[in-house]
Amino acid sequence: MLRKKILAVGAAAMLAMGLAACGNSDTGDKAADDGKIVLGFSQVGAESGWRTANTISIKESATKAGIELKFDDAQQKQENQIKAIRNFIQQKVDVIAFSPVVESGWDTVLKEAKDAKIPVILTDRAVDSQDTSLYKTFIGSDFVKEGKLAGEWLVKETAAATGPVNIVELQGTTGSAPANDRKKGFADAIAGSPNLKVIASQTGDFTRAGGKAVMEQFLKANPKIDVLFAHNDDMGLGALEAITAAGKVPGKDIKIITIDAVKDGMQALADGKFNFIAECSPLLGPQLMDLVKRVKAGETIPTRILTEEGTFTPEQAKAALPTRAY
Ligand code: AHR
Repeated sequence: MLRKKILAVGAAAMLAMGLAACGNSDTGDKAADDGKIVLGFSQVGAESGWRTANTISIKESATKAGIELKFDDAQQKQENQIKAIRNFIQQKVDVIAFSPVVESGWDTVLKEAKDAKIPVILTDRAVDSQDTSLYKTFIGSDFVKEGKLAGEWLVKETAAATGPVNIVELQGTTGSAPANDRKKGFADAIAGSPNLKVIASQTGDFTRAGGKAVMEQFLKANPKIDVLFAHNDDMGLGALEAITAAGKVPGKDIKIITIDAVKDGMQALADGKFNFIAECSPLLGPQLMDLVKRVKAGETIPTRILTEEGTFTPEQAKAALPTRAY
């Protein structure tokens, strides 16, 4: 059984956690006056099982760490995240953390936070700002590696294929770090295998509904699809419905590779409907709270903190499911 292990690059041991309640939907105007650290967190949305698990991890960890959490759900819109960050600045929170929905367009608001002397921590997704002094650290997965692991599995799986292998790709949210990076990692991994061809690639916005709708289009437009590479489990699960409705057998007629390894995805893998999953851990809360405390204490922290990922085959998914945390 593969076990997920979180690796904090160069980080010291976790700080002891205090116990206190948090106010995670708090939209009040004032930072805490009871000595608690106040963290403003802007979440991408609730687009996937991964995101739900990530939100729970952050809320539960804040409570355990005795950190007052001001939580905002941006509903997958950058303008909502910018507004939330400006609110946090106005409220004079101690630290701001956010998972940027897209990579570009953050410099102005991050500069505002810097000018207000409020440290910013990026979680899960990166920004493309050239000025890295605008944030203290970025904690999250290596999305390029996830795409690469997916592509490498396919190269091995199809090593004996003689004719062309037609691949369709369901991309994540356009302009987001995981969509950009997973696409790149996968493309790099299959580049040396000319018979592996991505014949269609389109965004499904990381949602089940998006995955289903785009897969329906793919199936209508392409009589021969051998492989689906979906940038997350949820889009793969939506695509399953479209594939079944088209009279094809998922996992057999069309091989399915996804990323995340949330419970529903792992169940589909264990059932033979998916063929391979590269893992992406959403359990970033405990490390984030540790970093918040250290930043608030003025400590120097590593600028990049990586989450170590595994991969799953159907057999490994069967073994892992009973104890899967998310
Ligand atoms: O940023 C992480 C990605 O966002 C997850 O892979 C996906 O499921 C989520 O929506």
